[in-house]
Amino acid sequence: MDFNIAVIKGDGIGPEIVTEAMKVMDAVGAKYGHNFNYNEVLMGACAIDETGTPLPDETLEVCKNSDAVLFGAIGHPKYDNDPNAKVRPEQGLLKIRKELGLYANIRPVAYYPALEQFSPLKPERIEGADFVVVRELTGGIYFGEKGRNQDGTEAYDNCTYSVEEIERIAKVGFEAAQKRRKKLTLVDKANVLETSRLWRDTVTKMASSYPDVELDFLFVDNAAMQMILAPTQFDVILTENMFGDIISDEGSVIGGSIGLLPSASVGAKVGLYEPIHGSFPQGAGKNIANPMATILSAAMLLETSLNLVEEANAIRAAVSKAIDENVATEDLNKQNPVGTDAVGDFIAAAVSETVKA
Ligand code: IPM
Ligand code: MG
Repeated sequence: MDFNIAVIKGDGIGPEIVTEAMKVMDAVGAKYGHNFNYNEVLMGACAIDETGTPLPDETLEVCKNSDAVLFGAIGHPKYDNDPNAKVRPEQGLLKIRKELGLYANIRPVAYYPALEQFSPLKPERIEGADFVVVRELTGGIYFGEKGRNQDGTEAYDNCTYSVEEIERIAKVGFEAAQKRRKKLTLVDKANVLETSRLWRDTVTKMASSYPDVELDFLFVDNAAMQMILAPTQFDVILTENMFGDIISDEGSVIGGSIGLLPSASVGAKVGLYEPIHGSFPQGAGKNIANPMATILSAAMLLETSLNLVEEANAIRAAVSKAIDENVATEDLNKQNPVGTDAVGDFIAAAVSETVKA
């Protein structure tokens, strides 16, 4: 089949890691008889440099008219270190999430036995950890009214959530739990925040429609601790935008590298797939960035947006093979690292060798 894929390489290591993911998708295409037509568009600091805006209209148009969006990373130190910058690369990402209606961000956290040594956590704690963070992505403090008082000595960021916003993401959480080990943990701060109390209320009411799912609650401070003390207790974690941002980075230490965690952002029509890590500007152009998270994001794209489940699993198996055989960048192979492109080559070749079901 033919598919139209919008590609946003972005900033920093973005172009390198996305190039490898495309290489692997093309290997899938050749093996399984699909044709991926890529349409490269700009977002982030590179878009600001070229067009003055982090998300040009053309980018949004192309994305809206595609079957899915493959995205690398955005961000640049010149903005990070300038709190007064008027335009920022991140505004592009927030806007595209909002415009595409991507309210559900799915971030699976996996444990790879071969990488145990790379996690700073004790092996007996992380062995078997396997959970998914379902993060609300278009509401909360990220999108509330923000500003300063007249003389600039006070600032505010409002956090609001409606029942409707909570219900639609909670549905994603409950359904994900139904397909897994049937446990849903709502992470909030209901002892302090009114929005969290609305989350608890709403999610509790919904629970009766999912009698097969066990629902429990954790305050986010405790959840942050539990995630590294005993990560195997989690199956699906449901949480709001900001808490999800924080705990998903924390979850990456279980896998051993932030360069391994993919994500899917879905909701309305077109899904967007990206690694959870940032643009790693210090690594840009050096052929040292781990492309696995982006390659695994491409697998999520195939499975979720294009319904190509066997193809997605072929990519996952190929990534596992690279991990098992230690064909990896320096974050996962200190002694004998290979380049970003060589990791992509290996995984693409492994996909080509897949025995079809
Ligand atoms: C993420 C990132 C983004 C976020 C930034 C780049 C705006 O950290 O996708 O987790 O905070 O959502
Ligand atoms: Mg983040």
